Formats: sequence, C-alpha cells, structure tokens
Amino acid sequence: MLNPQPVPSYLIQSEAVRVRFARLMARETILEVRDLKKRFETRQGEYTALDGLNFKTHRREFVCVIGPSGCGKSTLIRILAGLERPTSGEVLLDGKPVEGPGADRGMVFQGYTLFPWLTVKKNVMFGLTMNGLSKDHAEREALQWLDMVGLTKFADVHPHQLSGGMKQRVAIARALANRPRILLMDEPFGALDAQTRTKMQNHLLDIWRNIDVTILFITHDLDEAIFLADRILVLRANPGQVQELIEVPVPRPRDYSQVTSPEFVATKARLEALIHPPVPSQDEDDGVRPHMIRMTHIADNVE
Ligand SMILES: Nc1ncnc2c1ncn2[C@@H]1O[C@H](COP(=O)(O)OP(=O)(O)O)[C@@H](O)[C@H]1O
Ligand SMILES: [Mg+2]
Repeated sequence: MLNPQPVPSYLIQSEAVRVRFARLMARETILEVRDLKKRFETRQGEYTALDGLNFKTHRREFVCVIGPSGCGKSTLIRILAGLERPTSGEVLLDGKPVEGPGADRGMVFQGYTLFPWLTVKKNVMFGLTMNGLSKDHAEREALQWLDMVGLTKFADVHPHQLSGGMKQRVAIARALANRPRILLMDEPFGALDAQTRTKMQNHLLDIWRNIDVTILFITHDLDEAIFLADRILVLRANPGQVQELIEVPVPRPRDYSQVTSPEFVATKARLEALIHPPVPSQDEDDGVRPHMIRMTHIADNVE
C-alpha cells in the first residue's frame, strides 16, 4: 500500500467525504433538540444535568454522543425516548414534539433487557403484537428481523442460552421490528468483550446501511465513536453542554484497518484533547494520587 498523506487536522476532509457530508446535511431533519435543559433536585440541592443542548440529526445519519461519565448522556437519551421530561426546551421528531414513549423510537440499552421467559422470536414479536399486528404477521416480521441479525437458528431458544453479543442482536432486531424513525442506543456494546464488540460494530453498520433508520449511539469509547459515526456530539460535564459537533473525516465504507489512518488518528487526538484534557499538576491534584509506599528492593527498578 502507498503511504497515505498525513492529515494534519481532523477538520481536513477529502473531496469524497466533503461531498458525502453536503448530501447528508441536505437530507431532512429527523430529530431536533432545542435548548434542552434538565435539572434534578438532589439532597445537595439543585443539579443541572443538561444545560441548553441544541443539535439536529438528519435522515439516515449515524450520530455518536460521547462525554465523560455523568455528563448527562443517559439523561439525554431518556428524554429523547420520552421516558423522562426535560425541565425546559423541546425535542422534535419529524417536526412533532416528543411527549412520551412511542413506537417511532427504538431503544437498545447496555443491560440486557429481553424478557427471560419468552423465546427470542417472542421477544421480537412482543412490541409488534402490542401495536396491533396479528400473531401471524408479527411472527413473519420477527423472523425477517432475526434473519437480518443472523439469528434465525435461535428463534426458539430463551435469552439465557445466548451469548452477550447475541442478546444485543436480539435487542436490535426487537427495536427495529417496530420500524422506528430513530434508533436510540445507550452504550449497547459496553458490556461485551473487545472482539465481540468489534464484530457488533461492523454488524450494526451493515444493518444501518440497508435500512432507512437514523441512529443516535452513546458510547464512552472514542474508537467506537469514530468507527461508527458520521458526526460525533461531544458533551462536557457539570453542567452538560455541547462542547463540539465533529464531522468524522474517515471515508465510508468503514473497516478496521482505518483505525491507523491519518484521518482516524487526527480525529482521535481531537477527541482525546476534548475528553481527557491534560492532567493537572500534583499541587492542584491534591489527594487524587495517593502517596505510594515502596514495597520492593531499592535497586529493583522496572523502568
Ligand atoms: N434521577 C436523578 N436524580 C438526581 N440526579 C440524577 C438523576 N439521574 C441522573 N442524575 C445525575 O445527572 C448526571 C448525569 O447522569 P447521566 O445522564 O446518567 O450521565 P452519563 O450517562 O453521561 O454518565 C449525573 O451527575 C447523575 O448523578
Ligand atoms: Mg450513562
């Protein structure tokens, strides 16, 4: 392979990537978040979890949300799902205000949320029959989605017989079966081992490529965000605000060999700088680094 030209900044995009973004931004808006605020009453007083979030996602866009723990990522996704009300501001889906849960939003969480007493197929059918589909119709639909996630053979087993990655594939099939406008995913691969996680990322991109769905995906894994996303919404904590919305300059289709590409490396360096700013000096850092007692022979150094 020829040595690729180094890209000095994540802001520099190849012509193909620029054209792709221009097309993406011209697509209609699916989700719009307007000046979203969420305050919690706590025993210590009022806590501002989200402090005026504004952003839009376009049809069939893949947006990742990253930010330090506690910056309000899960709060945001629960508000989008309609499971929680914002203190102020609004969320529009296809231009209509979100006021509660609805079949137009599919959810996949980190914890396995399948019903343990139902088979895989019946887990996927559950929402469909709730929405009024006949049993036959729901079964046909469920089998089609299980085929999409490669689990046809496991339709009649119970969730405890599946690996973690397979459970999340069922959760994805179940979420997509309702044909949502947007798929909301909160660290869905967070509990998986690194190898399964990589497979699931590739699998999710394959699915996304083939169906008309917009994805909002929360992660705290920088590589995962860059590998998956068109754009990355970077939040800061306390109070939760949008720090930056980054257009990922890595071309599509994605594959794992790109993690060492200059575009990928430049984007990761930017995210690192935003998420993990330089560690403060020892004086400011009082108590964070405990005093170490040496428990080896004096001359026995490892570095
Ligand atoms: N129901 C609640 N009551 C009080 N504080 C909450 C509640 N839910 C979340 N928080 C606080 O809001 C902040 C954001 O939480 P969360 O959205 O779970 O963050 P993240 O998912 O980014 O780690 C945290 O400081 C958390 O303690
Ligand atoms: Mg969270």
